[in-house]
Amino acid sequence: IQAQGGAGDLLGRRIVVSAGPTYEDLDPVRYVGNRSSGKMGFAIAAAAARRGAEVTLVAGPVHLPTPAGVHRVDVRSAAQLRDAVLAALPADAYIGAAAVADYAPRTVADNKIKKSADTLTLELVRTPDTLAEVAASKSRPRCVVGFAAETENVEGHARDKLRKKNLDLIAANRVGLAGSGFESDDNALTVYSADAARELGPAPKTRLADQLLDLIAERL
Ligand code: CTP
Ligand code: CA
Repeated sequence: IQAQGGAGDLLGRRIVVSAGPTYEDLDPVRYVGNRSSGKMGFAIAAAAARRGAEVTLVAGPVHLPTPAGVHRVDVRSAAQLRDAVLAALPADAYIGAAAVADYAPRTVADNKIKKSADTLTLELVRTPDTLAEVAASKSRPRCVVGFAAETENVEGHARDKLRKKNLDLIAANRVGLAGSGFESDDNALTVYSADAARELGPAPKTRLADQLLDLIAERL
């Protein structure tokens, strides 16, 4: 599809975007994290601001510059991400591009864990699901958009998430392919809604961001 990128077409809209990984601390020097560069979410925040939206970007630990005109809130853990996103509501749209850790260590050791036995078992507990919470909240944005990085049965898993989390759109991509997805500047997405599927890319994440915003703008 053609990116409209219509200058000012999001003027007056409030958009909250989450981006990057989360890090769940284990001790003062170690964490459980994931491979997310944050580039997709930052590109969406940048494009939305360029198109006139008032943008809050809740960013996990990444080394990326703050896009022009974007209000950035830095967080580290899934719990902090949830608090920052909920504090940024109400909004017209929430775009959950963050790769949120699903589990966090049950306890954070005060001191560095020393090695001793040959094996170490970590107890992990579920983190809050910010996307589901936003979609179920009293101040639900009109458009709630999730991301789904999948290695197999992409459409099946993505549509399950769309339904179970009560989303308007979900942007799915297959991960594990060389040159696409994590850490890359390019990606390809399939965006599912209850009744449609749109293929975006392969294209630079900056262009995908505008194409995704076109689909969101239609719903605002
Ligand atoms: N998400 C979230 N909070 C979590 C986990 C996920 O807000 N604790 C959001 C992500 O930002 C993304 C969407 O949910 O927009 C889907 O993330 P994904 O990891 O693909 O799905 P999960 O629901 O976590 O399911 P699973 O990892 O088992 O596939
Ligand atoms: Ca997950």
